[in-house]
Amino acid sequence: MRVMVINGPNLNMLGYREPAVYGDRKYTDLCAFIETISCDMGIDVLVRQSNHEGEIVDWIHELYFEHYDGLVINAGAYTHYSYAIRDALAILSCPVVEVHLSDVMNREDFRKISVIEEVCTARCFGKGFDSYKDALLFIKNAEVK
Ligand code: DQA
Repeated sequence: MRVMVINGPNLNMLGYREPAVYGDRKYTDLCAFIETISCDMGIDVLVRQSNHEGEIVDWIHELYFEHYDGLVINAGAYTHYSYAIRDALAILSCPVVEVHLSDVMNREDFRKISVIEEVCTARCFGKGFDSYKDALLFIKNAEVK
């Protein structure tokens, strides 16, 4: 089973950005965590990060053509307003899980809005790194849509 994990803007700054919200572990720690748990679950994972909306759209298109079994996406702030990423996700038929480290429903009002939620299969948030674990487990157990 092949899964892509896409992390959006500012996630490369984990460990430096707002540690009270996101913790003090670094982005490299998150990648190592995702790779270890994916290996344990028998998932072949590709983890990517970009600060650029168009690059994320391109990766979603690539995922479509290369027949992945699922996508885990933490679109960062793009979650709240990127219709380009929403439209790209709507192309996919594999399970797509929206992920957030923080509890977006209990922060500022703008974070409560997700423009990608409707085109995702599930949402996992508020559990730090474990949000990714829940997302990968969901994909592992998911039937194809
Ligand atoms: C985030 C939450 C978003 O609101 C924020 O813009 C991020 C990170 C999270 O993982 O909690 O960059 O997606």
